[in-house]
Amino acid sequence: MPGDKSISHRALIFGSLARGQTKIHGLLESEDVLHTLEAMRALGAKIERGAGAGQWCVTSITAETACAPQAPLDFGNSGTGARLVMGMVAGLGIGARFIGDDSLSGRPMGRVLNPLGVLGVKTDSHNGCLPVEVYAGSQLPARISEISIASAQVKSALLLAGIHADGVTEVIEPNLSRDHTERMLAAFGANISSTVLSEGRHRVRLSGPADLTGTSVTVPGDPSSAAFPITAALCIEGSDITLQGVLMNPTRTGFIKTAKRMGGQIDILRPRKSSGEDIADIRVRGSRLKGVTTEPDMVPTMIDEIPALAVLAAFADGITQMRGIGELRVKESDRIARCEDMLRSMGINVQSGKDWLRVEGAGALCGKTISAEPIPVRTDGDHRIAMAALVLGLAASCKIRIDNPTSIATSYPGFVADMRSLGANLEIEP
Ligand code: S3P
Repeated sequence: MPGDKSISHRALIFGSLARGQTKIHGLLESEDVLHTLEAMRALGAKIERGAGAGQWCVTSITAETACAPQAPLDFGNSGTGARLVMGMVAGLGIGARFIGDDSLSGRPMGRVLNPLGVLGVKTDSHNGCLPVEVYAGSQLPARISEISIASAQVKSALLLAGIHADGVTEVIEPNLSRDHTERMLAAFGANISSTVLSEGRHRVRLSGPADLTGTSVTVPGDPSSAAFPITAALCIEGSDITLQGVLMNPTRTGFIKTAKRMGGQIDILRPRKSSGEDIADIRVRGSRLKGVTTEPDMVPTMIDEIPALAVLAAFADGITQMRGIGELRVKESDRIARCEDMLRSMGINVQSGKDWLRVEGAGALCGKTISAEPIPVRTDGDHRIAMAALVLGLAASCKIRIDNPTSIATSYPGFVADMRSLGANLEIEP
């Protein structure tokens, strides 16, 4: 599987902040990650490609190379890049302007700008959205921030801001979100610890200023990308595929757990460690699925996999109810609305509310002729809706036409080639 997107962004960011050199193996060379790479260069890091695919060497920003970028930092479609780097520049005391594409420009940035404001960082935004200006400032204080949503992007932005602070930066979140920042900071030599508090709350403490040292990072396969071939294999009778080297960090395995609960035949093979993360091979076989209810506390562990789960739900017998998924309304698109439309266009009964989606599964759709004509699916330029729609069409043996296949390159540039190699028939129309 291609490298994990979250870990790829972080390897570039922490490599740029750590003394000396960081060697990255298996970097995801997708558009989102390449925007972060260019931002690190604009801030004064030297980043060079190595001999093989995904091999990169990052040489730290130093007092001599650090600079306020001349041009705005363009993050394209990437919320992770934009939000993490806002925390990073605030911590460095550097001023920068942040821009992005139409989708990113509609997404809320107040969740990062407001807690940074409490630390004394001066910013401007367009009603809480991009373009955002972070103004140059002085060393930030180390404070406790309690955030109201379990968001790894917000948590990471605050930890990045705390790297140069004098004292302990503490971030408390209502539920544990993905913890790659914590793991990677520890691997780069920071003094950082995590504690579970009452009612599932979670606290991270980082001692600043943190003295980070460059290291070697091997990026594991992305479980969020893996969700698409997994979904295809589960829904198509007779499938039997194995995906190698997939990240199995417990903050990212909610989709696999849920798919198993639905009756999915998924075997976790050769569990092992790579750069401080759990990885494994995943064998998936075509399965008869049943509907399930998923609870809000599961959501952070499968936040990016809900479109894939919606496809599984369509093929399951019975009702699937996903609760507490309101954050999906502010992802790359309104994913609840897009999933609802996508399934309805296939004749599936589906309802949604502010923070839930209910799908009446049609059992095995495979082989049923739903429409002789291609069914159009609106993606709003969202890569995960595009991939979910294509997998839905593939598994239902009907033609799906998506409006913007280029969006797929933001997270999984090899998707079309990988799916074709598994036997899928995907055409890019001129
Ligand atoms: C990410 C965190 C998640 C996720 C996003 C990547 C990260 O967002 O949806 O695709 O790398 O930190 P939130 O932290 O906003 O939930």
